[in-house]
Amino acid sequence: MSVPLDADFPAQLLTWYDGHYRPLPWRETSDPYRIWLSEVMLQQTQVETVIPYYHRWLARFPTIAHVAQASDTEVLKLWEGLGYYRRALQFHQACQQIHNQLGGQLPADPSDFRRLPGVGPYTFAAVRSICFGDRLPAVDGNVKRVVARVLKCSETGQTLARAVEQALGPVMPGERPGDFNQAIMDLGATICTPRQPQCGSCPVAMQCQAHIHGQVADYPVRIGRKPIPHVPVAVGVVWRGDQLLISRRPLDGLLGGLWELPGGKIKAGETPGEAVRREVEEEVGLKVKVGPIVGTIRHSYTHFSITMYACHCTYIDGTPRPIGCTDLKWISWDELGQFPFPRANRKLFPLIERYRRPLESTG
Ligand code: ADE
Repeated sequence: MSVPLDADFPAQLLTWYDGHYRPLPWRETSDPYRIWLSEVMLQQTQVETVIPYYHRWLARFPTIAHVAQASDTEVLKLWEGLGYYRRALQFHQACQQIHNQLGGQLPADPSDFRRLPGVGPYTFAAVRSICFGDRLPAVDGNVKRVVARVLKCSETGQTLARAVEQALGPVMPGERPGDFNQAIMDLGATICTPRQPQCGSCPVAMQCQAHIHGQVADYPVRIGRKPIPHVPVAVGVVWRGDQLLISRRPLDGLLGGLWELPGGKIKAGETPGEAVRREVEEEVGLKVKVGPIVGTIRHSYTHFSITMYACHCTYIDGTPRPIGCTDLKWISWDELGQFPFPRANRKLFPLIERYRRPLESTG
């Protein structure tokens, strides 16, 4: 980075923060566990989405010990809908390590904290600066945007993250480094927004190179986005009497540990029904009679989107075996609420509810 940040930058930001900070629930506590939880939930997720999850979580798990003693499924159930489920599984593992090996409190030794599952450079810097006053810049998407504009920095991706960290390092204040980090986050979330930034209300507009040169919309520089692939998927709503079959995804993959209706990608040339017959046999070892499509939804993930077709199926033969999944259950419709499902499955449930009786007996 060629130009350093102005020496006034921290004072200007902190003065602005004192008058404009958002009164968020994790700012009303000094409990490192709560602050750490908030930082994990806030990764890739907006403040308004996180607030109700944060409250529900703490009502159920007021301490690290409560998290450590819970099951994966219960942890994922409280995270259901927040996305990026690996965060939840890693936070759970980290709480178990703290509970079982590190005395039950968030470790005071920074290197013990940094070694915990899921504690990367961002979480480490955010928690250490807010809870322990360490002078560490916490660089998330909002912070990258603010600094890229102030310095008219043309780097992208990881190189931008490094440049921002290097630019912030020398100006990190010795006092209130956590507030300084959160001030930049708030500035990025409320004033220096991706579209239509409110430069007229910005406390650092006078030193913002992109603003001075009328180029705010050009920073951060965007690299050409590849088109998002679309994947057709088919799932079976497999009934055996009034029991419905659900399967659990492997812990280490996408949507790891969540439950779902068994199914998978539709191959070229296959109909949804053919894909369901094949997938149910491959994944759970069951022969089923495949009926009509009873629900269709579209869903977008960060890197791809899907159309999901749900086909009514009735059990014919076989004992379900977890071949392409880690667990299987026959459950009643009313038990669906107890399991964590991906959003795409939750969207389907209202559509397929009217077929919840085996199709033959709906008349
Ligand atoms: N995004 C990530 N961490 C945050 C925090 N502490 N306050 C507001 N937004 C955030």
